[in-house]
Amino acid sequence: MTNPAHPEIRVYPPAADVIARAHVDAATYDEMYAASVNDPDAFWAEHGKRIDWIKPFTEVKNVSFAPGNIHIEWFGDGTLNVSANCIDRHLDTRADQTAIIFEPDDPQEPAEYITYAQLHRRVCRMANILETMGVRKGDRVVIYLPMIPEAAYAMLACARIGAIHSIVFAGFSPDALAARINGCDAKVVITADHAPRGGRKTPLKSNADAALLHCKDSVKCLVVKRTGGQTTWIDGRDYDYNEMVLEANDYARPVEVNAEDPLFILYTSGSTGQPKGVVHTSGGYLVYAAMTHEITFDYHEGDVYWCTADVGWVTGHSYIVYGPLANGATTLMFEGVPTYPDASRFWEVCEKHKVTQFYTAPTAIRALMGQGDEFVTKCDLSSLRLLGSVGEPINPEAWNWYNDVVGKGKCPIVDTWWQTETGGHLLTPLPGAHTLKPGAAMKPFFGVQPVVLDPQSGEEIHESPTEGVLCLRDSWPGQMRTVWGDHERFEKTYFADYKGYYFSGDGCRRDEDGDYWITGRVDDVINVSGHRMGTAEVESALVAHAAVAEAAVVGYPHEIKGQGIYCYVTLMNDQEPSEALYKELRNWVRTEIGPIASPDVIQWAPGLPKTRSGKIMRRILRKIAENDFGALGDTSTLADPSVVDDLIANRANK
Ligand code: WTA
Repeated sequence: MTNPAHPEIRVYPPAADVIARAHVDAATYDEMYAASVNDPDAFWAEHGKRIDWIKPFTEVKNVSFAPGNIHIEWFGDGTLNVSANCIDRHLDTRADQTAIIFEPDDPQEPAEYITYAQLHRRVCRMANILETMGVRKGDRVVIYLPMIPEAAYAMLACARIGAIHSIVFAGFSPDALAARINGCDAKVVITADHAPRGGRKTPLKSNADAALLHCKDSVKCLVVKRTGGQTTWIDGRDYDYNEMVLEANDYARPVEVNAEDPLFILYTSGSTGQPKGVVHTSGGYLVYAAMTHEITFDYHEGDVYWCTADVGWVTGHSYIVYGPLANGATTLMFEGVPTYPDASRFWEVCEKHKVTQFYTAPTAIRALMGQGDEFVTKCDLSSLRLLGSVGEPINPEAWNWYNDVVGKGKCPIVDTWWQTETGGHLLTPLPGAHTLKPGAAMKPFFGVQPVVLDPQSGEEIHESPTEGVLCLRDSWPGQMRTVWGDHERFEKTYFADYKGYYFSGDGCRRDEDGDYWITGRVDDVINVSGHRMGTAEVESALVAHAAVAEAAVVGYPHEIKGQGIYCYVTLMNDQEPSEALYKELRNWVRTEIGPIASPDVIQWAPGLPKTRSGKIMRRILRKIAENDFGALGDTSTLADPSVVDDLIANRANK
């Protein structure tokens, strides 16, 4: 079917069998959406019952986005335990059902199937180990693990005793890990000897050792054996998980926490300064993660659901662990990468475990698309019913390939727009309700009120089609509550630019049907392979090198990664550009932040374009990085317009 307004865009109405099975069809969506925004208290009072409460809530929504009075509370007087919701309450009905399928990096290594009964015992044991190490309700625990079941046990064990976890992606460097341990004053770091990934091994324990040199002496380290590889050991500080688990008690009482008590902190990049610790709560977050998981992915009993993210990112929190397990689902945890041993791996895993819902990022789809269709077509993907996309805008070519080659035209694609800050999906088509448009994040989830603002005036634009900045008019239960240790930063980052709204940092288009299309970040955050990177972070890593006088970092279009990292570097007077220095600076950023922050291009810049007041004109730098020299705009306000000519003449030829 084609779109009447844009005949060049093919659109995909839901098929009859998809509608028949779906939890929500078009009429139900309209009805439920209207109810969710007209009477949020009644709507969420009902859906708050999706999870088990120890003391049921009597208050539902207590929210103000008013300038000077930002306040967000959901189910404020209820109490619960998140781990009991994800495990204990399923034991009567599905103790022997697989909760987690673990698929290791090496396909020769057998998969592991962990039932809800086993999950219960292992989480209880981990909870008891943490208690032995002195962790109590409200304490912080940093988790720095590979994608192994112990990562899920660690999260749920923290939740069980009311401790707050902060996961650090295993690709981050010792420096980044130290900053996060110190940032939340963690008592314990949980790590593993090594992290196998794509046939290589990251030495996690030795990274943790290096990080702990910069932390308080009292921080303890719990070490999980993954590869059995050599590690150094400090008695009194390091604890052996595999030894302690043999002795640990099988039962740990789930601690009662308030709905608004923090469940986790997750650091994420912003447009200024160092990453901030996004704080999510227990009650509202869990309700929202569970509900979106069920409805967006049209989850049904017996499904095998796979999200390929890493638990180091929010997608892994909400859609590998908390959402699926709260719903009693079977969730797959994959340790590896899409291209190891070859580009068939994802599809072989789908075939092997008869995956029904598959959720991944556009960067992976683009990378696999380039390898040819045979890697997909040689696998039996007949179990697949639904495909999902997350992390960045999906280009129509990738969407079409995903739809035609992977989904064989029979699996709806849910393009889910959301953020670390939002806890769960905010914009997404629902499979049985909406006509899909390749590249559109489509419609608000229940309770979500997107608005498009004029970036200059900050006024709401009511008519469609239109384009502007994407804000939210009101709260939803999964919304972050604060920045750890810096509530002022929370208010300043999300509520200061556009008064009365939550500002997402993204731009969007709303088409004539009222459907939303995300156009990308409007701030100084770039999206590299679906990972958020603050340009300020990369700049501060670069200027920390003795040879660098000044640096400016921008994003530029990259065929596979979506955006690449483009660095303009001005060297100290006594330094000369060289291939060796180029390599050294790349490695420097990798060690300062982690491999995900590796610069794609470094251009030596004798000078940077600045206004007379000394402000770097990033707009011009972005255009040069994009090779778009015709649209540089007004350069007359520059202190020295000739630097632009020099940068254009020397635009790195990459
Ligand atoms: C981008 C990941 C377009 C967006 C869950 C957002 C997307 C940032 C989509 C959040 C999508 C995420 N379409 N853009 N479906 N999903 N983004 O915090 O720019 O790692 O602000 O959360 O990713 O990234 P984060």
